[in-house]
Parts: sequence; structure tokens; C-alpha cells
Amino acid sequence: MTDPVVQGNDCGVPVGLIAVCGAGTGLGVSVARRFGREGYRVALVARREQQINDFAETLTAEGIEAAAFPADLRDTATVPALVAAITDRWGRIDVVEYAPITTELFTPAAELTAAGLAPLISLYLYTPVELVRAVLPGMLERGDGAILVGHGATAAQPIPFRSGVGPAMAAARNYLGSLHGELADKGIHVGTLTIAALIAGSAGHRMLTSGEVETGMDLSRIPTVDPGDLADQLWTMTGKRDQFEHFCPQR
Ligand SMILES: NC(=O)c1ccc[n+]([C@@H]2O[C@H](COP(=O)([O-])OP(=O)(O)OC[C@H]3O[C@@H](n4cnc5c(N)ncnc54)[C@H](OP(=O)(O)O)[C@@H]3O)[C@@H](O)[C@H]2O)c1
Repeated sequence: MTDPVVQGNDCGVPVGLIAVCGAGTGLGVSVARRFGREGYRVALVARREQQINDFAETLTAEGIEAAAFPADLRDTATVPALVAAITDRWGRIDVVEYAPITTELFTPAAELTAAGLAPLISLYLYTPVELVRAVLPGMLERGDGAILVGHGATAAQPIPFRSGVGPAMAAARNYLGSLHGELADKGIHVGTLTIAALIAGSAGHRMLTSGEVETGMDLSRIPTVDPGDLADQLWTMTGKRDQFEHFCPQR
């Protein structure tokens, strides 16, 4: 693939469609804006309909074609209807960016239960698997596309007392690594961005720095990043397609 569809133009014609799955005030809206600036239409997916409607309105005012598609991504069965709603409106999905996160706290591994883990496995493994199944035939037909997944540090590095999302994201990381190897020579890029930093403007950042919640974490040791810089990194990954896994801060 010498000229992937992800390259923008300045003709006012949409160059593609990105589905931002897990669109919040941190990374999600920044990715929407970054790809939107390059000429992408943006489908914003999250549970809070009012918030993603507001994002869509803001982006539209900035000249970006955006719309809200409310969905609970823990409910894997909702994927076909979600993908159909997006494609019925705009046609094919060229890029899936998947990075939903809540402000729920970590769970110590010793306190983890299967029942507690189940919704996390749905959110971080089963739903991405089904999303890929839904968009892959179209991407294979075109010989182009990108699947970008955001993870927290515990996806790649187990940390005592910070379990819960980690095992679920680690399973997804394993799956995505295999997928990357299977699709790279078919023009489809699968990449992860593992973020070991607080994202400025995110609900998680606000919660942790508010002082209202006791986490036991030494926040002075965790860097803060600008979500715009992470969105730039995801944009660059989409164009360059050079490696499966990127880290912030860089390793
Ligand atoms: N925030 C941080 O400081 C931080 C630190 C390290 C790593 N990360 C990683 O960075 C990425 C982006 O984080 P962010 O905090 O910047 O994200 P964000 O874009 O600010 O917010 C993510 C959004 O995901 C949505 N979401 C959560 N559960 C969902 C569900 N079941 N179905 C649909 N949507 C759901 C939430 O909206 P609704 O509640 O409306 O559904 C939330 O607003 C994630 O991969 C995260 O693991 C973040």
C-alpha cells in the first residue's frame, strides 16, 4: 500500500470515516479533532448521549462532519447494530479507534472475582473482537484500513494492587498482536498505544488530581500528557504503519 486512504486532502471531500469508540473529554475528542482536521468524518461512540452530542456539535462548528452514536461497549451484542447505524449513515468505516475507559478504580488482584472481571473482558476483548469482525470484510476488500487501540500501562506491565482492567487489556494486546501480523501485508494496520501517563482533560485526570479519592498512587511519579500529542501520535501511526506497539512515554 503506497498511498493509504488515511492521507487527507484539502478539497472539502471526506477522505474517510473514523469511529472513535470511547469518546470522552481526554483522548477521544482529541482523536476526533485530529482526524477530523485531516478530512475524516467522525462517529463518536460512548454511553452518555448528551456528552457525545455536545462533542459532535462542537466539532461541526469547527468544520468537521461528526455525529453521535450512543452505545454501551460492554454489551458486545450491540456491535452489529452500532456498525450498521454508522455505515447506514456514512458508508464504510476506514479507521476504528478504541480506547474506552471509566473512572472506576483499580482492583487488587487478590480481590478480583470472575463476576467483576466479566464486564471488563467484554469491554476490552470481546467487543473489539466483534468490531473487527464487523469492519474487516470491508477493509480487506479495499486493501486498506486501520484499527488503533489505546491501553493503560497495566496492559503491558502487571502492577501489584492495580488489577482489573490490566488482565482484560493484556488479553486484548495479545489478540491485537496476532491480528497485526495477519493483516499487515493486506494493507490493514493494527496498532496499540499504551499510555503510562495521566491524560490532561480526561475524567480520570480530574478525579485523580482532585484529591477527593484516595488511590495510594504517588501521582508525582506519573507524567501528564496532552491528549492532542497522543492524537498526533495515533495519526502518525496510521500513516507510518511501522510497528504494532507504541508507548507513551516512549520506552
Ligand atoms: N485518563 C488517563 O489519565 C489515562 C491514563 C493512562 C491510560 N489511559 C488510556 O488512555 C485511553 C484514553 O483515556 P481517556 O481517559 O483520555 O479517555 P476519554 O476519551 O477521555 O474517555 C473515554 C470515554 O470512554 C467512554 N466509555 C467508558 N466505558 C464505556 C462503555 N462501556 N461503552 C461506551 N463508552 C464507554 C466514557 O464515556 P461514557 O461514560 O459516556 O460511556 C469515557 O468518556 C484509554 O485507553 C485509557 O486506558 C488514560
